[in-house]
Amino acid sequence: MRLLTGIKPTGALHLGNYVGAIRPALSLLSDTTNEAFLFVADGHALTSVTEGAALKQMTYEVAAAWMAAGLDVDRVVFYRQSQIPEVFMLFWILSCLAPKGLMNRAHAYKAIVQPRLEKNEDDIDRDVFMGLYNYPILMTADIVLFSAQKVPVGPDQKQHVEIARDLAIKFNQTYGDVLQVPQPAIQKEAPSLAGLDGRKMSKSYHNVIPLFADDATLRKLIFKIKTTSQRPEEPKDPKTCNLFQLFAAFATADEKSDISKRYASGIGWAQMKEATFDVVARTVAPMRQRYKALMQDIPLIEQKLKAGEERARLEAKTLMSKVCRAIGF
Ligand code: TRP
Repeated sequence: MRLLTGIKPTGALHLGNYVGAIRPALSLLSDTTNEAFLFVADGHALTSVTEGAALKQMTYEVAAAWMAAGLDVDRVVFYRQSQIPEVFMLFWILSCLAPKGLMNRAHAYKAIVQPRLEKNEDDIDRDVFMGLYNYPILMTADIVLFSAQKVPVGPDQKQHVEIARDLAIKFNQTYGDVLQVPQPAIQKEAPSLAGLDGRKMSKSYHNVIPLFADDATLRKLIFKIKTTSQRPEEPKDPKTCNLFQLFAAFATADEKSDISKRYASGIGWAQMKEATFDVVARTVAPMRQRYKALMQDIPLIEQKLKAGEERARLEAKTLMSKVCRAIGF
């Protein structure tokens, strides 16, 4: 099975990104019966990042983070979208087959215009850019260029993969069977971690614990996690406890059952926070070291990406020559 997925370079990663997205994707990609393509969607990032130096830095950061987290770059084809010009050529070809009405229903666009329509505003497209509007078509190009069969994504991206299916089918109906019709593989709702304040851990809530925080910061932030005012000896319920959820995301099965028992018999929050720090640090400290070493060695990241880009382009050129032949280029 050929898998492909893209990651948008966004700001600093946090523990929630690791537990909810990076770790589940890595376990899927490491299944050696699959052939996997993973890329940094720096083209998609242009819809929100308009500073070149920042985009470049974030691209290296996200690449280094995945490598530090254990991505096997020699097995998985790992590349930057921007370095595959065929993506952007295919994007145009697909956009000529993309019904505008279908794009009107894409959720990122619709989320902006729907409330304006309801309020009868004159200019519903105010401050909407074509990059946002065309986003699902670029994503389709990413997917079909590599004949991906399965596209592992979070539930928020499901509609985009469905649009990719529709456009691939449309292309094949128009020009003959050239494109593989992809299928979404919706990642089972990986546990979304709670942040410091108990809401979902998210950059926009300013409640995150950075993935690569140093030990002192990590410990300080874990000690800031909001807990109840129960006294140490009171029995507590791990199931409803955010701190336990964070602990559980990094602990072994034995450690989880031990701590659950102590929740019943009584555990103080300070002790629990110490235990949580220990299990989290055990996993992230070596990753942080690898990440720091990589960020000190940008030429190495470049070299790994370039190797992936070479492999990716071979594939891309083969598919594009079929596409070009079919459409009359
Ligand atoms: N849009 C995806 C996201 O925001 C990233 C992405 C771009 C992607 N191209 C893709 C994911 C192709 C899967 C396949 O998360």
